[in-house]
Amino acid sequence: MINPHGSETLKPLLVAKRVEQDALTKEAESLPSLLLNSAAAANAVMLGGGYFTPLGGYMNLGDALSVAEHMQTADGLFWPVPILNLTNDIAAIEDATRIALRDPNVAGHPVIAVMDVDNIEQISEEQLETMISKTFGTLDDAHPGVKDFRSLGNYCVSGPIQVLNLSYFETEFAGTFRTAVQIRKEIAGLGWNKVVAFQTRNPMHLAHEELCRIAKERLNADGIVIHMLLGRLKAGDIPADVRDAAIRKMVEVYFPPNTAMVNGYGFDMLYAGPREALLHAVFRQNMGATHLIVGRDHAGVGDYYGPFDAQAIFEELPEGALELEIFAADHTAWSKKLNKVVMMREAPDHQPEDYVIVSGTRVREMLTQGIAPPPEISRREVAEILMEYYQSDAAA
Ligand code: ADX
Repeated sequence: MINPHGSETLKPLLVAKRVEQDALTKEAESLPSLLLNSAAAANAVMLGGGYFTPLGGYMNLGDALSVAEHMQTADGLFWPVPILNLTNDIAAIEDATRIALRDPNVAGHPVIAVMDVDNIEQISEEQLETMISKTFGTLDDAHPGVKDFRSLGNYCVSGPIQVLNLSYFETEFAGTFRTAVQIRKEIAGLGWNKVVAFQTRNPMHLAHEELCRIAKERLNADGIVIHMLLGRLKAGDIPADVRDAAIRKMVEVYFPPNTAMVNGYGFDMLYAGPREALLHAVFRQNMGATHLIVGRDHAGVGDYYGPFDAQAIFEELPEGALELEIFAADHTAWSKKLNKVVMMREAPDHQPEDYVIVSGTRVREMLTQGIAPPPEISRREVAEILMEYYQSDAAA
């Protein structure tokens, strides 16, 4: 099986043994505590589940800047996005060496992790701008990831952590949320060697379904892991439970048994395009995938990134940065001439009118009005689940 990133074994920071968990929980009661922001809590969940192997905790300012500027930590580990615990409020923890980190996303703010504080560093405006512009490729506050990052705080609290639980993901998405440890185990159990991961934050329409099929076939892969984001999204994106139901239905009806796994990870969407695609690749390698599909405008938002920037960035990586490879996909759409979904670059004789293309906005309008998109765009079973959501109060 493919090695985890930068390590021969996975390094989940979740404390697995019940007795140790209980002891830490007890200890945490008497420690100074810090209420995390959602981004830092999501980092704890990813670190807990082994997805961020080989990191041992939150980065210090030096590592964060080095990662932002050069995509490697001070020690030379390839890493594409700073993994931070930022805050504005250090009054309670200023002199502490060991602190309890509290979960902002669960009622009562239970302790999610215990941290040995290595450093509390103030970040200058210039350093913040460097991190933002390098990670997101823009400083524009209209970018949802930039806006969120700017709100996190000016102090960088760094050090190793021990994770006590995996936040709301384990309870709210019990059937879907999986750690990298669990997925690796499942892949090994199935005897899959070549494994393609599909990242998604959206329900899957026909073009996505076919993209998975095309990648699996061409790579001659043993299976595909449809691995969805279960954390926070910007307003207007489809909630994870609805997306989960739609994807499961599609796999149940249209994929042969034992060829596709559906599961998800607990992280907030960054919308960082190319840099996020690299992070996606790192944690898919950690969960045991050998390939990651990177299509059009992967992890993008608005017009901030070119449609294939997230593929191009993989070409710039130094030799050996990652073991996982990407499956670089072109824009896929239904061809009226060939009666199937194709990648556009493979149909050079086609004109734009030879494809069935309906904008995302139009698809949403149709679903809201109870009109199923045409079968060239969406499976009926998927459309039904989405129509029910769009016509409910939840979507209003
Ligand atoms: S993402 O933010 O998680 O990347 P989304 O769920 O929309 O968004 O996309 C999942 C994957 O499918 C990404 O790799 C994206 O590039 C790819 N993708 C989505 N739509 C298309 C399309 N029409 N053609 C090619 N690739 C696509």
